[in-house]
Amino acid sequence: MKLIHPIGLLLLSCIFLLCAVVPVRADLRREAEALVNWKASLASADESLGSWSLANSTNLCRWSGIRCDSAGHIAKLNLWNASLNGTLDQLDFSAFPHLKELSFGHNGLHGTIPARIGNLTSLVVLQIADNPYLRGAIPRSIGQLKHLALLNLAFLGLDGTLPEEVGNLTSLEELSLNSVTLTGSIPLTIGMLVKLDFLDLSGNNLTGTIPLEIGNMTELLHMDFSWNYLEGQLPTTIKYLTELQFLVLSGNQLGGHIFAELGNSSLLDTINVAKNNFSGLFPSSVCVGGALRTVSARYNGFTGIHQQTFQNCTTLQDVDFTANNIVAELRDCFGEHPELAIMAFRQNQLYGSLLNDQGEVFLCNLTYLSLLDLSNNDLNGGLHECIGDLPSLIFMDLSRNSFSGVVPFSCHDSLYYLHLANNHFRGTFPLGLKKCKSLITLDLGGNHFSGTIPSWVSMSLPTLKFLLLSSNIFDGNIPYQIFQFRQLQLLDLSKNRLTGPIPDNFTNFTGMIQEQETIHTRFGEFDREEIEIVWKNAGRVYNLWKGPVVGMDLSDNYLSQEIPNGLTALLGLRYLNLSRNQLLGSIPKDIGNLVLLESLDLSQNQLSGGIPPSFAALKSITVLNLSYNGLSGRIPTSSQLQTIEDPSVYTHNSGLCGSPLEDCVDSSTSTQNDASQAEDREALWVYCFVAAGFILGFWLYWGMFMFSGTWRCAFHQYVDNMQGKVTKKMHSFKSCLRGRLSACLFGLQLNEKQLELVGSEK
Ligand SMILES: *[C@@H]1O[C@H](CO)[C@@H](O)[C@H](O)[C@H]1NC(C)=O
Ligand SMILES: *[C@@H]1O[C@H](CO)[C@@H](O)[C@H](O)[C@H]1NC(C)=O
Ligand SMILES: *[C@@H]1O[C@H](CO)[C@@H](O)[C@H](O)[C@H]1NC(C)=O
Ligand SMILES: *[C@@H]1O[C@H](CO)[C@@H](O)[C@H](O)[C@H]1NC(C)=O
Ligand SMILES: *[C@@H]1O[C@H](CO)[C@@H](O)[C@H](O)[C@H]1NC(C)=O
Ligand SMILES: *[C@@H]1O[C@H](CO)[C@@H](O)[C@H](O)[C@H]1NC(C)=O
Ligand SMILES: *[C@@H]1O[C@H](CO)[C@@H](O)[C@H](O)[C@H]1NC(C)=O
Ligand SMILES: *[C@@H]1O[C@H](CO)[C@@H](O)[C@H](O)[C@H]1NC(C)=O
Ligand SMILES: *[C@@H]1O[C@H](CO)[C@@H](O)[C@H](O)[C@H]1NC(C)=O
Ligand SMILES: *[C@@H]1O[C@H](CO)[C@@H](O)[C@H](O)[C@H]1NC(C)=O
Repeated sequence: MKLIHPIGLLLLSCIFLLCAVVPVRADLRREAEALVNWKASLASADESLGSWSLANSTNLCRWSGIRCDSAGHIAKLNLWNASLNGTLDQLDFSAFPHLKELSFGHNGLHGTIPARIGNLTSLVVLQIADNPYLRGAIPRSIGQLKHLALLNLAFLGLDGTLPEEVGNLTSLEELSLNSVTLTGSIPLTIGMLVKLDFLDLSGNNLTGTIPLEIGNMTELLHMDFSWNYLEGQLPTTIKYLTELQFLVLSGNQLGGHIFAELGNSSLLDTINVAKNNFSGLFPSSVCVGGALRTVSARYNGFTGIHQQTFQNCTTLQDVDFTANNIVAELRDCFGEHPELAIMAFRQNQLYGSLLNDQGEVFLCNLTYLSLLDLSNNDLNGGLHECIGDLPSLIFMDLSRNSFSGVVPFSCHDSLYYLHLANNHFRGTFPLGLKKCKSLITLDLGGNHFSGTIPSWVSMSLPTLKFLLLSSNIFDGNIPYQIFQFRQLQLLDLSKNRLTGPIPDNFTNFTGMIQEQETIHTRFGEFDREEIEIVWKNAGRVYNLWKGPVVGMDLSDNYLSQEIPNGLTALLGLRYLNLSRNQLLGSIPKDIGNLVLLESLDLSQNQLSGGIPPSFAALKSITVLNLSYNGLSGRIPTSSQLQTIEDPSVYTHNSGLCGSPLEDCVDSSTSTQNDASQAEDREALWVYCFVAAGFILGFWLYWGMFMFSGTWRCAFHQYVDNMQGKVTKKMHSFKSCLRGRLSACLFGLQLNEKQLELVGSEK
């Protein structure tokens, strides 16, 4: 190793000396001053900015958030997430001619973006994203930032247009302007950004059409225009975007056909055109490159899928055509897709069977399939037991088709949601479901299932929240175990042939005992958009994701005996329908405990007695029906009950009165319920009896005077004996008439019985 030459040593020490005096250079001092002045204008900032002081300017390059270039100038100013609260007004941008990167993202900046930002002429990276209080417009001077490669202004609170000067940023490679609330149309100058590979204008209020000029951005990999108000057709120039991987146009008003040229990019990975007005055949070219993984076309007007579209698409993972007008044979549309994870075709008009000629299902080898939604189609035929072997399946909805046969499959632990409603399935309650121990929802409604409801359901399906068995031909008693589901929130057994009493043991029925929130758990990998779980009942739609649905519907069966009072412990209950059964006895007296109850239907039973006074405590009730029973007495009043003005909900009972029906007859009993009315009737009977007795006695007495003296004597003797008794009774009767009637009803009843006795002695 050679020793350093003495001249070299001298040179080195000179450089060292020079470096030491660098901080006092005027241009560097200006940079430091600009920062310190701006810091002083802020209401608050992160503690780390404590290093920013003029006294410390020798350390400028080591100040928090600062990086210098080799000449000692500030090259990077990174204050990402630095708790900045203040404006950019006092920042002298012209002091930083060498600044290459400015990152102010995720702070509390307010005010506007100053036009002076255009003075940062060396800037390569500008990120001010996620300052939701920044208002105003993107300044036109932004066009002066000729070297800018990355511009990220996402999540600001702006409200202006995207200036056409953005087209001057010809070095730009990445432009993120999502959720900035830009208005106006996309400037045509955008086509000048020929180096752009990432463009995100999603979540704004952009209007107008997508300009033809996008075809000039031939380097584009990622294009996201979703959630704007764009209209018109997708421009044909999209065929020049041969590098395109992600095309996201969802949530606009785009229409027309999608061109075959979309497939010019052999790299196309994702195409999302959901929630637009596209129509016609879905292009067959999208998978030609063999890279396509995700297709979402939900909520459009596509009428068909070309047979070849997905046939060679072995990379396909998610395909979602929910709510289109596609008429196609399901099996024809697909080939081998070993990686398929999501397949959603709700509300199309797909037809055909899942089974092929050999009785196999084309779905059987899909190891990664987690969501299968084929509901609302015209699919028919049977199901194969292999469906139960799909190891990743989380959600399966085959509702509203014409599937038939028995349900032959079991489940893996992964299955949370199983919906087979409104098909032609038959047989007993599927025994295979015993293994579905992770289920959250089970909907077997609207089929031809028969036999009894097995007692094992609550034991075997411990996490179930929704059990819907409505509109089948289940018979026998409701097993008492049904109320041992600890998490069940919705039990719909309506429209079956169930008999016997409603079991009265609700202690473990905690899902309905407690107030429930909207379901937030176990979405798996999906968002709410993808899964629709609703309960359609009596013309209403209850959405699981939107509000807590806690309800019990046992209507339209042959249930008998009394409504168990234990039911009133289910304090979380919002919907209760016991109508169209043969229930007897009275309405449980504690019904008023159910303060969350919004809908109560007890109509068409044989309930009798009065409506219990606690009824007035049902402060959430909006839908009520007590008609077609044997109820009597006064309808309790409360401000909530008064909002139910339709008198028909009380009709066809033996004697209900009070608002909204006619007033109860006797005003003196206005505070009494029907019990006192019944007693009033008894009192009336006593008056009649006394009057009749008097008339009879009168004629007997005078008749005897007319006929025989011996009879007369005997009668006088008898009357003497009775005199004491009768005087007492008449006295108590008179005091009753004088005092409040109700106070002595009990006494009157006694008198009545004794008077009857007197009559029989005669
Ligand atoms: C000066 O800046 C350096 C580097 O950030 C810091 O470590 C030091 O504490 C600062 N000194 C003062 C007095 O603020
Ligand atoms: C910023 O500071 C102002 C004034 O001190 C205060 O009113 C405001 O709430 C602060 N904003 C944020 C986002 O912290
Ligand atoms: C800084 O920008 C403002 C507004 O764009 C301009 O008027 C001014 O001349 C610029 N200053 C320098 C030094 O570039
Ligand atoms: C953007 O559109 C939404 C919804 O139409 C509207 O509420 C909002 O005010 C609009 N914002 C601007 C800045 O125009
Ligand atoms: C910048 O953009 C404006 C508007 O598009 C244009 O008129 C102007 O010529 C451009 N300036 C430069 C230097 O390219
Ligand atoms: C940009 O696109 C338009 C329309 O497609 C075309 O007329 C124009 O020549 C293109 N400009 C450049 C610079 O490629
Ligand atoms: C795009 O595809 C069409 C046919 O689909 C073809 O004629 C055209 O040459 C392709 N363009 C490019 C730039 O690859
Ligand atoms: C699918 O692959 C087969 C065999 O490689 C080929 O013959 C056929 O043309 C391909 N179909 C499409 C639509 O690409
Ligand atoms: C109760 O159930 C019956 C029969 O299932 C139905 O007709 C009625 O509309 C339901 N009532 C309410 C309030 O949902
Ligand atoms: C109340 O129930 C009866 C019998 O179930 C039904 O006919 C009637 O339409 C219901 N009334 C209302 C308002 O729902």
